[in-house]
Amino acid sequence: MKDNQSILITGGAGFIGSHVVRLFVEKYPDYNIFNLDALTYAGNLENLKDIESKSNYTFLKADITNSSLINELFETYKFDSVIHLAAESHVDRSILDPLAFVKTNVIGTMNLLNAFKNCWKDQYQGKRFYHISTDEVYGSLGHTGFFTETTAYDPNSPYSASKASSDHFVRAYGETYGMPYVISNCSNNYGPNQFPEKLIPLFINNIINNKSLPVYGDGNYTRDWLYVIDHAIAIDTIFHKGTNAETYNIGGFNEWKNIDLVKLLCHLMDKKLGRQVGTSEKLITFVKDRPGHDLRYAIDASKIKNQLGWIPSVTFEQGLEKTINWYLNNESWLESVTSGTYQDYYKKQYT
Ligand code: NAD
Ligand code: TYD
Repeated sequence: MKDNQSILITGGAGFIGSHVVRLFVEKYPDYNIFNLDALTYAGNLENLKDIESKSNYTFLKADITNSSLINELFETYKFDSVIHLAAESHVDRSILDPLAFVKTNVIGTMNLLNAFKNCWKDQYQGKRFYHISTDEVYGSLGHTGFFTETTAYDPNSPYSASKASSDHFVRAYGETYGMPYVISNCSNNYGPNQFPEKLIPLFINNIINNKSLPVYGDGNYTRDWLYVIDHAIAIDTIFHKGTNAETYNIGGFNEWKNIDLVKLLCHLMDKKLGRQVGTSEKLITFVKDRPGHDLRYAIDASKIKNQLGWIPSVTFEQGLEKTINWYLNNESWLESVTSGTYQDYYKKQYT
């Protein structure tokens, strides 16, 4: 890869994307980083205020479902590599509106693959298409075992089915056209800048506002949580050191049952907010279960650890502390993203 390559990062105004953009802009001053984002409800340029005036950073407002625009941008900027994060990313929204997920996650990914192919005319020396995916493509585990890179795909939600489909297309372009690609499948992320519709930021926001904490079903569902900056570091590692046509699983070695995680969060928030311990737990409300709710996700991340030397840099306790502090110090961010259409979604989902 060239020292001064142009890298297109899609979805860079979102949660994970903004941390990836920041890391690349700051760590690689010779790279030209282009952040392409449609700025949907989940995208927010506030997330990148601190780096927006850097000379190696350019923002492009564009929708990946618009194939002609995407082709034009590739023709203009000749991106050497793509790190593709733009997606509809929330399972509950995928249950309410599955087609939006097919459009962005499947067709949008196809448009990027085609534009990359058209731009380089199948001459891919020094080029790379890196597709960011999720462990949810593997479906659900029972009470034991782990997802490895060879676990068969078995998606259960419209979100995970759309991500699985996009993963297959990326692989197919590698096999059929020789496009150099890597894919990574990561577990649940948490950290600063996550939109408060996913479990951890939603519950932090509700605790701050003394609103009920809607735990789906009996709360005995398990997720493997990874601090978002550790995901960004893993993406940097795979982008530079990963082998073409390989998949890497990324996980936190950190499984939590939802109900235990929610109780821990309540405890930490009570302490931070100076409330009597036990106050926030009273907000826990068991609500109707999510349809098709996957019981358990857990990643075996030994391949990335053994082959590329990546392991998480923070413990869950440290990551949660940083996350809670960030939300408490950025209440105006929370207020701005939860005004307007967020309220409509909240009513639809929870009442
Ligand atoms: P997010 O919802 O916070 O951000 C998605 C970003 O994509 C937003 O900035 C949004 O504006 C942009 N976007 C959406 N549709 C677009 C379109 N049609 N054209 C251009 N931009 C568009 O998502 P996230 O949580 O940061 O996830 C990023 C990626 O990582 C996704 O591909 C997701 O599947 C994957 N992933 C997420 C997690 C997680 O726990 N959040 C875990 C594993 C993998
Ligand atoms: P979420 O953050 O939506 O991530 P994912 O579904 O991609 O794993 O949800 C994490 C877990 O928390 C999942 O088991 C569903 C559960 N959950 C609730 O119990 N209540 C909620 O309001 C939300 C958003 C999630």
